[in-house]
Formats: sequence, C-alpha cells, structure tokens
Amino acid sequence: MEVVIQPDHESACLLCARLIADALRAKPTLVLGLATGRTMERVYQLLAHWCFFDGLDFSLARTFNLDEYVGLGPDDPRSYRYYMNRNLFDKVNIDLRNTHVLHGLADDLEQECARYEALIAEHGGIELQLLGIGRTGHIGFNEPLSAMLSRTRPKALTLATRQQNAFLFGGVDEVPARALTMGVGTILDARRCLLLATGEEKAEVVAQAVEGPVTSMISASALQLHPHCRVILDEPAASRLVGREYYDFIYEHEPEWAPYR
Ligand code: GLP
Repeated sequence: MEVVIQPDHESACLLCARLIADALRAKPTLVLGLATGRTMERVYQLLAHWCFFDGLDFSLARTFNLDEYVGLGPDDPRSYRYYMNRNLFDKVNIDLRNTHVLHGLADDLEQECARYEALIAEHGGIELQLLGIGRTGHIGFNEPLSAMLSRTRPKALTLATRQQNAFLFGGVDEVPARALTMGVGTILDARRCLLLATGEEKAEVVAQAVEGPVTSMISASALQLHPHCRVILDEPAASRLVGREYYDFIYEHEPEWAPYR
C-alpha cells in the first residue's frame, strides 16, 4: 500500500483523476471499476473536462460499478446508475453499453450478482478499481464483518451507512435496507486499487484501514493485502496517521511519483 497526502480536497481529487486518466491513455480499452459518493464528484468532473477539452478518450473503456441500492431502478435519481450517468457517463464519450452497474430491481438478486461476477470475468477482470470509504470502513457496501473472500452479493446496510446517505433520501427511514455490492474478494481481484478519501470525518476510519489490523470489522483494511493499492488523502483525512513522515518521503523520492509531484 502507498499513501499519498495532498494539501486539500481539490488537489487529492486532481491527483486521483490524473492517475485514472493516465491509465486510460496507456490502455484505451481499460476495464475500470468505479465508485459513487460525494468524494468522487470532483474526480468525475475533472475527467469529463479532460474528455471535452483535452481529448481524453473513453470510447473503448469498459466500466463496472461497485454497488447499487436494492429496489432502485436506473431512472431513480437516488440510484447509483443515475448518479453515474449524471456525473460521468453523460459527459464523456463512453459507449453506455460498456458501462455496467448492478440492477437493483432484479427479480432474482443472487442471480444478478452471479451474472455480474461472470461479466467481470468475461472482460478479463478489473484493471483499476476506484474506491471511496464509508464511515463504517466499508468499500463498496461491504459493511463490518463482510468476509475477506466475499463475492458480489446482497448486503444489509448498517444504520451508520443509512444515516450517512440519508440526505439523498430525505430521511434515514427512506434509505433502502439492502444493497448489491461487489465483495471484498471481488475488489481484491482488481489488478490495481485506488482509494480516495477526504475530510476530517474520514480521518479515524482511514487510520484504522491503513495502519490498523486487517479485520473484517473495517473492510477497507483488506486493502493492506493488495499488492498494488494506492491511497490518496487530503490533510484532514490523513490527520490521524502516525506513519506520515515515511509516506511523504516515498511520494517525494520514488521515481514513479515524479510526474505527479
Ligand atoms: C457509499 C458508497 C461507497 C462510498 C461511500 C462514501 O456508501 N457505497 O462506495 O465510498 O458512500 O461516500 P462519500 O464519498 O459520500 O463519503
């Protein structure tokens, strides 16, 4: 795992977007895993801007989203499919047929999850997986006690997660009780992972995920097992880390980071 700390939300989003854009330029047919949430909105804005003004080309890219609420259809403004269309897909030259989001309205949820796993495999697996982190330490919707080897499946949401996302639904009781999510094992299968977290409210859970023990109580801590995982933080989100000096040293001195400094 490598941790890079940027001064603020804007510069953290900029670095994250540059890493995605560079991966896409290096491989136009990239299979990209995508995340939702407020943190990602600026990242998608930047990618859309570069697509429009700098020729960043999504025409051959394939995408798989991490998760979707059970019971919400693609036309529901609160669904993650809707979020992705509005924040990214409608603004770049991607072929919508190459964008994949779990169907929250599927009759058979288990079957839908199996279909999604098979589709990822058919595409040769995810090459770069973008991740946020929830207050419970979840990646995707892998709530506490999600098995490290879990695959895509329906998952009950915790009260904390429903509270975190209540603003979108007009109250916690309106937030769906369940979601479909890639499993921790599905995420760990991605060739590279890129986690972005900003803001003071993420500081504690980021410290647990990055420097704490690997535990299913904090799903993001499983990323410590991943051979190619980068974590991009802003100062407030990094404020509880104890190994800061070393992380900064790596960013300042390792040649792979030279183009981004
Ligand atoms: C939701 C998503 C996660 C995301 C998290 C953080 O719970 N399922 O994938 O990481 O929100 O969201 P935010 O960026 O709004 O803090």
